[in-house]
Order: sequence, then structure tokens, then C-alpha cells
Amino acid sequence: MFITFEGLDFCGKSTQVKLLTSYLEAEGNGVEVIREPGGTSISEKVRNVLLDRANEKMFMETELLLYSASRAQLVRERIIPLLKKDYYVISDRFHDSSIAYQGYGRGIDISRVKEIQLFAIGEAVPDLTFLIDIPVKEVNKRKAKFEPGTWDRIEVSGDQFYERVRQGYFEIATNSNHYKILDGLNSIEHIHQEIVEVINNFSI
Ligand code: TMP
Repeated sequence: MFITFEGLDFCGKSTQVKLLTSYLEAEGNGVEVIREPGGTSISEKVRNVLLDRANEKMFMETELLLYSASRAQLVRERIIPLLKKDYYVISDRFHDSSIAYQGYGRGIDISRVKEIQLFAIGEAVPDLTFLIDIPVKEVNKRKAKFEPGTWDRIEVSGDQFYERVRQGYFEIATNSNHYKILDGLNSIEHIHQEIVEVINNFSI
């Protein structure tokens, strides 16, 4: 089963990925966690280019293609072989991040972004996606706990960018039948229980 997590930066995805992984492993399942961009040695190199604040000259088209290139490698090198071995593959972000951030956020034509994603992901279509939703003011509150010098090239984006990304996620989620939207303002444990319930009731 291929499960992906989506949401704005600081929404709590990574915490939930860890909790779900422990839960599924305790149930005796083979589980592999990947993060996007990254997850293979080639993709991690691309990640460094993408998130490095020194690369402020990067055009949005370059950004989209680099995220997609990193993903194309990850799909073929790890995701598809793992799914063939019946693993649970859990990805901290996947192609909908590109649709939300580069499409809705940066303003690249959505149908073009989607077309590139189909090319990049091939047959690796998620079975289930959790969108952990938090308002933009909560992103700022959580981000403020970290030194501004540590924010990456995307995290330095302003409120309007994040509002567009959030609206984008809502549109993607409401037009899809494999999405579950979770309120990221609830407690970590509450969100985890919701996720476990969805997984246990899920049938492919
Ligand atoms: P992370 O903070 O969840 O590791 O993600 C890295 C950043 O990259 C985050 O700000 C979201 C952004 N991103 C995109 O803009 N497009 C994408 O396709 C992906 C996977 C991430």
C-alpha cells in the first residue's frame, strides 16, 4: 500500500509519518518511509539544490522540473520495487506537493504541472493521501520557533504564497477520492488515532 502525507510546512506530517510507521511495524508489516524531495542518493543531491537559499536565482520552471526529476528517480529506484515486495510505502510528500506549491503557489499552469507529474510518477499512484491542514497563521507561529537563518528556500515564502498553496491542497483533495483531510490543530495523538482508523478501514 502506498500512503502519502501532504500539507503546509510545519503541519506535523513528519511526526505523523513516524507514529504511523511504528504502528504498522508493531502490527508485523514491512514498512519503508521516504521523504520528498529525497529518498535516493541522486534525489538527496537534487534536494540540496532545491532547498539551498543561495539558489535564489532559480526560476519556477527549473524548480518544478527538479522536484519532478527527484521524484522520477525515487519512484523507479525505491517505490515501485518496494510495492512489488508488498511493503507499506509511506512518503512524506509526493506529487501533489508539486501541484500545490509549484502549480497553485508559484502560478505555473496546473494542467502542465499535472502532466509532468504523470510522467514522473508512472504507475506509482498513491492509494491513500492524508492532508494535514493548518491555517497560515499557524505555519508562522510554528516557524517562529526556529531561527530565520535555518528556514529553507521555500520556507522563506510569504503568507500569500502559503494561502495559495493551502487553497490548492483543498482543491486537489476535494476532487480526489483517495484523500483524507485532517485538522492539524488537533493533538498529535488525536490525529494519529484518526489516521489509524482510516488505515484499518481501508480496502484497495
Ligand atoms: P519538507 O520541508 O516537507 O521536507 O519539504 C521541503 C520543501 O519543499 C517544503 O517547503 C515543500 C517544498 N516542496 C515543493 O515545493 N514541491 C514539491 O514537489 C515538494 C516535494 C516539496
